[in-house]
Amino acid sequence: MKKFFILTVLAAFTIIVSNCGSSKKATASAPKSNYETNLKTLIADNCSPCHIPAKGGNKKAYDNFANVKTDIDEMIRRMELNPGEKGFMPFRKMTKLSDSTIAVFKQWRADGLLEK
Ligand code: HEC
Repeated sequence: MKKFFILTVLAAFTIIVSNCGSSKKATASAPKSNYETNLKTLIADNCSPCHIPAKGGNKKAYDNFANVKTDIDEMIRRMELNPGEKGFMPFRKMTKLSDSTIAVFKQWRADGLLEK
């Protein structure tokens, strides 16, 4: 009887420990991207100076979370055009942004347009 009791306690303990482990793994997977961490510098690097008022840009400001949030579909659409096509961004550049850069914008949209 005593043996049975010890075995039961051990089994319960094992189940608890293994559940803790798996729930930790689930929450540690891929944090969602956000404007402050993932987009701000990309925009500053690629859409400057035209869309950065502090740099003298006079086009729609994209150093600003609210504008990027409303315009994200149009931003992605224009980045995916080819150089020379009407509406292509970055304006007048000869090369598109890399697929991996554009993917960061798409991932941000998929993650739910978080500010930070
Ligand atoms: C060299 C200057 C320049 C750069 C760099 C540039 N843009 Fe633009 N952008 C413009 C101009 C000029 C317009 C207005 C003409 C037009 O709509 O095509 C514009 C308009 C836009 C619009 C439409 C805004 C509206 O008012 O509806 C979007 C969206 C846009 N740009 C996205 C981008 C993105 C994203 C980048 C960076 C990857 C970028 N642009 C880089 C000059 C620039």
